[in-house]
Amino acid sequence: MSEMRESQKRKIRFILDGKEVEAMEGWTVLDTARQNGVHIPTLCFNEAVKTSGACRLCVVEVKQGGWSKIVISCMYPPTEGLEVLSRSERVMNVRRWILEMLLAECPASKEIRVLAEEYGVKRTRFEIKNPEEQCLLCGLCVRACEEVVGVRAISFGSRGVTKKITTPYMIPNKSCIACGSCVTICPTGAMQARLDAVRGAVSERTGKGFAH
Ligand code: SF4
Ligand code: FES
Repeated sequence: MSEMRESQKRKIRFILDGKEVEAMEGWTVLDTARQNGVHIPTLCFNEAVKTSGACRLCVVEVKQGGWSKIVISCMYPPTEGLEVLSRSERVMNVRRWILEMLLAECPASKEIRVLAEEYGVKRTRFEIKNPEEQCLLCGLCVRACEEVVGVRAISFGSRGVTKKITTPYMIPNKSCIACGSCVTICPTGAMQARLDAVRGAVSERTGKGFAH
């Protein structure tokens, strides 16, 4: 949100799920929904770090004049008179489709499976490349390490289908202070699984053991 003082900010009125709501200048549709107790599912969003729009799960339908479109609520600024639907048929279809893609990307993530089941999605029609994968490459862990902890112990490595979360230049990085922020902020359990692997523990989440 901007540096402007609260009293200087303009208020924007729009309709959210049939009810008039008020947003402060600089808020997104998601910010306003949360302020009004409207639940919109998110994975890659966390107030503590910059927004990236990586997971697309927070989609909503926006209507104005004669047009309507699907947008991601965590990055969409509301405008005066806009109509927003957080659970329209179109939104639910797109959300189910995104969950199918997420199931294919992170088939080993219990968190993603639970979320998908909430939306009636039990399997995916997309190709599963790695049945053990849990990371959706949302980058929350990287941003938390850099923006909140100020350490930069982890980063994105490689590109395309081999892109992954690793240490800078993929070499051991002694700057990690073991604060656990990456584990706490990760929405899929991928970071916890890595920690389990490092410790050689049996994961409570997957029931699998890991080698040291
Ligand atoms: S490890 Fe977790 S937080 Fe980091 S990119 Fe993967 S899913 Fe996101
Ligand atoms: S929460 Fe909005 S794109 Fe991930």
